[in-house]
Amino acid sequence: MKIAITAVSGQLGTAIAKRTIDEFGIENIVGTTRRPEKLKSLGIKVFKADYDSEEGFLQAFQGIDSVLLISGMGDPNKRIEQHRNVINAAKEAGVRKIVYSSIIGNPGSSTFDAIVNSNRQTEKDIIDSGLNYAIGRNGLYIEPDIEYLDNYIKEGKVTNCADEGKCSYTTRYELAIAYTHLLKDDSLNETINNLVGEAITQTELVGYFNKYLKTNLVYESMTPADYLIWQQKHNGEFLGSVIAGIYQKIRNGEFVLKSDFEKIVGRKHKTIAEIFNNYKN
Ligand SMILES: NC(=O)c1ccc[n+]([C@@H]2O[C@H](COP(=O)([O-])OP(=O)(O)OC[C@H]3O[C@@H](n4cnc5c(N)ncnc54)[C@H](OP(=O)(O)O)[C@@H]3O)[C@@H](O)[C@H]2O)c1
Repeated sequence: MKIAITAVSGQLGTAIAKRTIDEFGIENIVGTTRRPEKLKSLGIKVFKADYDSEEGFLQAFQGIDSVLLISGMGDPNKRIEQHRNVINAAKEAGVRKIVYSSIIGNPGSSTFDAIVNSNRQTEKDIIDSGLNYAIGRNGLYIEPDIEYLDNYIKEGKVTNCADEGKCSYTTRYELAIAYTHLLKDDSLNETINNLVGEAITQTELVGYFNKYLKTNLVYESMTPADYLIWQQKHNGEFLGSVIAGIYQKIRNGEFVLKSDFEKIVGRKHKTIAEIFNNYKN
């Protein structure tokens, strides 16, 4: 089976590429990125393709059975058309199946919901395409929090507006395993799946940092309005509103979801303790 992975240069795309290379063989995996010259280390054939145009994807998808579409990073309204370029190229190239890496989240009114809604539209576009499909809705990855740890340590605390809301977390590694199964196993076709592990509060997350990474942090809650101002000041208007909206959804309980991970992978999702145990100093 020949597979094309979009956004293969990203951290999720790379994790999925490594896993699928092991599963299907290096000769059966290709990837796409806007800058192939920067991506030699994976050892797979990499095509230049931008979500803004169908052209590069049409070339990349020749002879491909299944496409793994990783959602883009741009303006949510633009993303819908960008993803349609990939879906249309897949259809034109004679691809059999699309596996879509989407996002969790019940509908709400946070500043993150435009992104959730754009992902739902792409899910609908894929279903309407007539191709076989399997959809994964990714929980929040825990890795960015761990990569941000030095900043938390400088501050002495983790601050956001999630308050006591819980969030179903995952990791890129667990997602890569789940996506390999969604690509491989046609009995999972025409399903939409929550790819999440256990749900924890921010206070519990900080507890894991302190226990496994030997930090001495506390959790401090802010109001959603104050946190939005803080985020936009530090990360700019767009990214700030995206991040603030994510924590607003956690606060509202909109990121606590029943997991489909075990049904897909055949084992339970790693616990948060097991995940942190891998990062232990
Ligand atoms: N669940 C979560 O917690 C979470 C967190 C962050 C992001 N996400 C979502 O998951 C996706 C992958 O995350 P990641 O961790 O792999 O992010 P990442 O490491 O920042 O990678 C982003 C990827 O998107 C590609 N990309 C961006 N704009 C593109 C365009 N116009 N055309 C083609 N490719 C484009 C980049 O490719 P180039 O080489 O062409 O730049 C890169 O491969 C993100 O795009 C985002 O939608 C989810």
